[in-house]
Amino acid sequence: MGTFYVTTPIYYVNAAPHLGHAYTTIAADVLARHHRQRAQDVFFLTGTDEHGEPVALAAEALGVTPKELADQNAERFTALAPRLDATNDFFIRTSDPRHVEAVQAVLARVKDNGYVYEGEYEGWYCPRCADFKSETEIADGNRCPIHEIELTREKETNWFFALSRFQEPLEQLYAEREDFVLPASRRNEALSFIRSGLRDVSLSRSTLTWGVPVPWDPEQVFYVWFDALLNYVTALQFAREGEDLTDHFWPASVHIIGKDILKFHTVYWPALLMAAGLPVPERVFVHGFLLGSDGRKMSKSLGNVLDPFEVMDRYGTDALRYYLLRDVAFGSDGSVSMEGVVSRFEGELANELGNLASRTIAMVLRYRDGAVPSCAVDPVISDAFASLPATVAERVDAVDLTGALDAIWELVRRLNRYVEETTPWVLAKDEARAGELDTALASLVAGVRTLSVLLHPWLPEATEKLRGALGTPSTGYTDAELVAGGVARVEKLAPLFPKTQ
Ligand code: ME8
Ligand code: MG
Repeated sequence: MGTFYVTTPIYYVNAAPHLGHAYTTIAADVLARHHRQRAQDVFFLTGTDEHGEPVALAAEALGVTPKELADQNAERFTALAPRLDATNDFFIRTSDPRHVEAVQAVLARVKDNGYVYEGEYEGWYCPRCADFKSETEIADGNRCPIHEIELTREKETNWFFALSRFQEPLEQLYAEREDFVLPASRRNEALSFIRSGLRDVSLSRSTLTWGVPVPWDPEQVFYVWFDALLNYVTALQFAREGEDLTDHFWPASVHIIGKDILKFHTVYWPALLMAAGLPVPERVFVHGFLLGSDGRKMSKSLGNVLDPFEVMDRYGTDALRYYLLRDVAFGSDGSVSMEGVVSRFEGELANELGNLASRTIAMVLRYRDGAVPSCAVDPVISDAFASLPATVAERVDAVDLTGALDAIWELVRRLNRYVEETTPWVLAKDEARAGELDTALASLVAGVRTLSVLLHPWLPEATEKLRGALGTPSTGYTDAELVAGGVARVEKLAPLFPKTQ
C-alpha cells in the first residue's frame, strides 16, 4: 500500500509552544492516523529548530546560554506532542550531533556540486525571521511584515548558495507538478516569487556562533534555515536505531507548514535538494493563520489569545483537535476563541455525536439486551454512508481536512434524523413492529461503527471509547471492515465528551 511521510515545521525554541504550533502538529497527526488506517507505512516527524539568531537573541535577553534555553524549551515541545495525542514517530532536535554531522555532509556535497561561492552581502534583515528581506517584503517603517520589528542593516562576507541558478528548474518543477504546492493560491504566490527573479542567498553567517559550523570554514556557521530545512532528510538517518530510513521514506509525501514560511519551503528547499542531488518532496501544504477573537494577530498584550492548554484542561484534547480543524477551513486564515470552542463542543460534539452514540448504545441495551440485531441495514442509511469512506479519503488526499470532517458530520446528522424518523421507543412498545425496531437498531449501530473509524484521526480519544462499547472492531479502512462492521454486541458507553472542569 506504499509509504507516507508527513512532517511539521520544526519549531523555534526561543519561546514556549503556543496554539499555532499545536495547530500544525494536530493537522499532521490527522494525516498520519488516517494513512495508517489505510494500511500505509507511515512516518510522522516533528521537532525543534534550535540554532540561529532567533534562539541566540532570546537566550541573551534571558541571560542563559542558547543551549540552556534550547534544552528547556525543547522539553516543553517534546511534551506537547503526546498532550495533543500526536503520534509522531520521532522528534528531531537540530542540536543533535547526528543532525549537525549530516547537515555538514549534505552542504559539503552542495559545494562540491558547484553551487557555493564566497561573496559579500548587504541587506535588510529580520533577526526573528532569520531572513534577509527583499524590497517587496518590507513593511511600512522599514519593518518586518511578520514580526513588526524594525529591520537591521547587515553586511557581511560569507558563503552563498547559488539560488538564482534554480530559477528555471523551479519553474519547470511547478509546471510539471500542478499540486506541488497547495492550496492553489499559495502555489501562485510561490510561483510569482520565483518568476520575479531569484537572487543568490547567504548560506552562512560570520557574526554568529550558535549554529552548525561550516566544515570548510569553521569560523562560520550555516545560515539557520538551511540547517533547519535539512531536518526533514537528516532525521531519517538516525530516527531508528541502527537503520537508515532515507531510501524507504524520502521524498516526503507532504510537508505541512504555515504561510509565514512559504518562501523557504517552496523555493529554497526544492532548490537546495536539487543542488544536493536529492529528490524534492511530493507536496508542500500551506495552512493559514489562526487569528485572535477580534480577527487580529494573537498577542498577549491584545488579550485575544486562545490557550490550547486551557481548552484541553476544560474540554479535552479531542475538543481542541476537532475545533481547530472544523471551525477554520484548513488552508485559510480564521479567528478562534473560547466561545467558539464552547459552541462546537456543546452543539456538535456533546449534543450531536455524543447523544447519537449514547442513545444508540442505550437502546440496544434496553430493547435487545445488548445484542445487535443481525438484520440488513436500512437502505436509507447504507446509501448515506456507502461512498463516505472514499469521499473522506479523497479529501484527506487533497489535505482538505475540514472538508473531510464536514462530509463525516453529514452522516452524524443523518443518523440523528434517522432516530427521529424511526422513533425506536415507539416501535419498542409494539411487538408487531419488532422487525422494524431490529432494522432501526442495526442501522444505527452500523452507522455509529462507521463513524468510530472515520472520525478516529480527529477524535482519537472519543472514538476509542466508542470502539470499546462496540467490542473493539478494527479501525481499518477497507469497505469490508467499515461497512460490514461485524458488531455483535454493545456494552455500556462512558460519556464521550465529559467536561473536565
Ligand atoms: O518558523 N497560526 O518556527 P516557528 C497558525 N523554526 N500556525 C501558526 C501560527 C498561527 N498564528 N503561529 C505559528 C519557524 N504557527 C522555523 C521553522 S521548518 C524547517 C523551520 C505554526 O516556531 C505554523 O506551522 O516560528 C508556522 O509555520 C510555524 O508554527 C512557525 O513556527
Ligand atoms: Mg515564527
